[in-house]
Amino acid sequence: MKINDKLIVALDFDSLKKAIKIVDILDKNVTTYKVGLQLFTKEGYKSLEFLKKRDKKIFLDLKFHDIPNTVVGAVSSVLEHGVDMLTIHAMGGFDMMESVAKLIWQKRKKKTPAPKVFAVTLLTSLDSAFLQDMIGATSRSIEEEILILAQAARSAGIDGVVASPLEVKMLKQKCGKDILILTPGIRPTDFDKNDQQRTSTPYQAIKDGADYIVVGRPITTSTEPLKVVKDILKEIKNGLKDS
Ligand code: C5P
Repeated sequence: MKINDKLIVALDFDSLKKAIKIVDILDKNVTTYKVGLQLFTKEGYKSLEFLKKRDKKIFLDLKFHDIPNTVVGAVSSVLEHGVDMLTIHAMGGFDMMESVAKLIWQKRKKKTPAPKVFAVTLLTSLDSAFLQDMIGATSRSIEEEILILAQAARSAGIDGVVASPLEVKMLKQKCGKDILILTPGIRPTDFDKNDQQRTSTPYQAIKDGADYIVVGRPITTSTEPLKVVKDILKEIKNGLKDS
């Protein structure tokens, strides 16, 4: 995989116009963009079509969470739009993940392009009080719960997981090197953490084994987004060298 392909820039904007502006500034330095709930619910498939026209790869982060039949239906609809990566919730259950994996693997067997699927384990906004009070998992730590969900995702045939930088090493060790890990919560050295709690630098995340890093505000709110991207790419290069 090329160094640039490891960086995914999050287009968390309230209009397509703002997204287009940043994609044009970053030009060929960035190959992959995340379209998440905000841009997609505002602009719909227009946001994907524009990225396709620019020859960009698309990470559609809509975190599907419903019964198997409904999620498979949603994934099938998305497949028609040629996205490269998408997310579902591991908390949707083993059967739901397995149904999605079956659909994807059927496509791959027929050599039809199919996106890589990532399962969200536990949202980083949730803490051990959530596990105890709402799930009743009183004896498990957050880390143990994340591992259980990641292992379930892998056994169901899902390609990888979304994980905070702090879990990357543990997941690669315990789930095997083949599990793909996509990591948000990235803050280049000296950057504001915003509302992110469990952060790491691009260098450290890649060194620990992250396959992809997702970076939003450090790039999109910067007065020099291109410079920030170039610095991040340097960090990725160094992280790969030291991993
Ligand atoms: O904080 P920043 O702007 O870099 O966030 C980049 C993306 O990472 C956002 O689109 C956000 O939805 C996503 N994300 C996150 N923390 C998680 C999971 C996803 O920030 N735990």
